[in-house]
Amino acid sequence: MAEIGKDIEKAARILSSGQLVAIPTETVYGLAGNALDEQAVLRIFKTKKRPEFDPLIIHLGDKSQLNEYVREIPEELQRLAERFWPGPLTLLVSKKPVISDLITSGLDTVGVRIPRHPLTRKLLQSLDYPLAAPSANPFGYISPTRASHVQDQLGEQIPYILDGGVCEVGLESTIVGMEEGQVIVYRLGGISVSDLEQTVGKVLILPQSSSNPKSPGMLKSHYAPKKPVVLGDLEALIEGYRQKGTVFAVLSFTRTFPDLSESLQLALSPGGDYDEAARNLFSSMRLLDASEADVILAEELPEIHLGKAINDRLRRAAAK
Ligand code: TXA
Ligand code: MG
Repeated sequence: MAEIGKDIEKAARILSSGQLVAIPTETVYGLAGNALDEQAVLRIFKTKKRPEFDPLIIHLGDKSQLNEYVREIPEELQRLAERFWPGPLTLLVSKKPVISDLITSGLDTVGVRIPRHPLTRKLLQSLDYPLAAPSANPFGYISPTRASHVQDQLGEQIPYILDGGVCEVGLESTIVGMEEGQVIVYRLGGISVSDLEQTVGKVLILPQSSSNPKSPGMLKSHYAPKKPVVLGDLEALIEGYRQKGTVFAVLSFTRTFPDLSESLQLALSPGGDYDEAARNLFSSMRLLDASEADVILAEELPEIHLGKAINDRLRRAAAK
């Protein structure tokens, strides 16, 4: 099992020796390695069982380090960086040669982010290399939002988990880039589209499909629990599955169902708070995935605030 602790210097020593450390961020836990060490980068792909065509993002402690790794950043993206860094925003920008093709899967852009979790910021500021870090889950499964989630799934394979508590945002970063003067959202995430648009005007949300070569991680069947997830109107679904005699669990936005067992239902936010719902989404999916139910019934949220990004994850979880 991995050691779990809050020792930043220990984490730094392990990373500098080429090993991997799970790190807390405000979005989800990352599986981090020295981005300038090809062996460490290969180890990330291997540990996650992630295909090498799916690029990694790099994490920096401070904007002053950007120049070393990326070429010029378009003005619109600079404005987003000003407004949202440190925070749950990843920018796709053209890379300098020091960032290997292994990280970007041969693309000439690299995803960059400055996370705001205090432990990881301190760690990054103490290093003289960026950290490559995908979410610290096996490829295709739900992202981890607590140290114990990482321990459960990757604990046998890594020496250390830096424990930063429960992730404050709970959804992966919003990934943004530019093509032909247009700001494009490649992945919905912890910063809402309306917040982005307040800074740069109308953005284009890339249709989320498995045929999108720009962001292989947008494969439809990402973020999926092991149990089937069915999305729809909860009353109708509950009625239908009850008649079939299937054991089901229910994931709602705000509601509880008095005639259902308490252990087989979760509300993401009883008070209807979108940030709270985002924070609870992945841990709720994990809990229901571990329950005795054979299927998880869930409902979409209104498409405002983080509702859009939450629905994106729910739809992917429900995709076959
Ligand atoms: O919040 C986050 O972004 C977390 C924390 C740990 O920082 N990281 C994360 O990484 O979610 P990952 O690897 O699980 O998701 C990154 C996504 C992948 O879907 C990948 O395909 C896409 O970003 N990506 C990375 N570099 C890219 C690039 N140059 N062009 C297009 N897509 C890219
Ligand atoms: Mg991921």
